[in-house]
Amino acid sequence: MIFKDLRGEALSTAHASSAAAYNQTLDLLNSFRADPVAALAPALEQDPDFISGHLLMGAMMLATYDPQMNAPALASLHQAAASPLAPTAREQSLHAALRVWAEGDMKEGSRRLDRHLFDHPRDLLALQLAHTADLALGQTTMLRDRIARVLPAWNESDAGYGYVLGMQAFGLEECHAYEQAEEVGRRAVALQPHDTWAIHAVAHVCEMQGRAADGIQWMNATRATWEANNGLAVHNHWHLALMHLARGEHAAALALYDQAVVPSPTALALDLADASALLWRLAMRGVDVGPRWASLAQRWRAQGLFGAVGFLDVHAGVSFAAAGDREGLTQLARAAAAAQERPGAHAEWSAVAIPALDGVAAMAAGEHARCVDLLLPVLPVAQALGGSHAQRDLLALTAQEAARRSGQHAVVQALQAQRQVHHLPITTLTSDMPWRTSERRTTPA
Ligand SMILES: [Fe+2]
Repeated sequence: MIFKDLRGEALSTAHASSAAAYNQTLDLLNSFRADPVAALAPALEQDPDFISGHLLMGAMMLATYDPQMNAPALASLHQAAASPLAPTAREQSLHAALRVWAEGDMKEGSRRLDRHLFDHPRDLLALQLAHTADLALGQTTMLRDRIARVLPAWNESDAGYGYVLGMQAFGLEECHAYEQAEEVGRRAVALQPHDTWAIHAVAHVCEMQGRAADGIQWMNATRATWEANNGLAVHNHWHLALMHLARGEHAAALALYDQAVVPSPTALALDLADASALLWRLAMRGVDVGPRWASLAQRWRAQGLFGAVGFLDVHAGVSFAAAGDREGLTQLARAAAAAQERPGAHAEWSAVAIPALDGVAAMAAGEHARCVDLLLPVLPVAQALGGSHAQRDLLALTAQEAARRSGQHAVVQALQAQRQVHHLPITTLTSDMPWRTSERRTTPA
């Protein structure tokens, strides 16, 4: 017997309870709520032949963007393949896309998801995963356009329609259509108040437009939705901290780090990246973050699979450089050198990740002019690194601060002017960076 998900997509299973678990889990995944893995696991134990269930489990592993999760994702895909049930056409093509991604080729996985969605535009799992890949691969316009492609196949009354709007809001924001993005994002939240991705999209609009007060108000008003038991808890706290930084409220940003951004025992690589980026921004403003660098570097060493994702490696590099961890930097450099030799290696390595790693190391070593030389060529092509504009802004901010410290005022002024074009606030970075605990200084209020 064939059951269907809430959008009418066929699910190969003989059990209605499995289809119900699929719907519940996907809704949790769409909204980043609770623990969707725990919600699905019992259904797969009871129904090990549930193909779409295993695909959903594998997709959830891949959506973490943490290379450590590729192996368990692959295990789920093997279980899907071992089912005696006949997969549907949707399950077959989704499986093929997930498999290459889990084997380490996210780019090819993205291409296959791209093709899959032409035939299955109401496959909300595939859509969210493709959206995640677009973000990770720096396919910025597809964050917007992929949603535009599928929307004609959706109706407002469809289950999960609000989540599609939430993704559209983020895509519009990344394409600088801020007013539209905010309108769509707020509409998505009105439809589904627990849609933390849509909440996050509106936060991005406020960040890009330099509306820190609006952003803080928005995040505090929605905070109960995302502050705990949510996959975006760390990242949304990171956004809130950035808004406080924009207002010069360094102590508030550091407090948010300690309360909610500092890696928990179960933190994934993206959480470590947020932690690194926030400490780096604080340090560039002269805030002493004390022993936090050392413990963060230790976490990267313990769980980083270097050479897999350039975006993550640059953030690990920030942490190692600031902590004075030369061995960590050496490991990263070796992994990056090997990564750029891989067949079909993404430009993220040679043009972005490797010079960015050298640039942040130079910054931490006080070689400011060298840092500027390394980072300026990266800025026009930084999109290849993936992530959002707000995340990649770390590199522009570092180049700007290094230029200030090396007396290159024309560069500082030009980068500030560029920031204005993108509606980001002009930041005035005033203090030297106290990178290591041995260079402690008083934390500004
Ligand atoms: Fe974000």
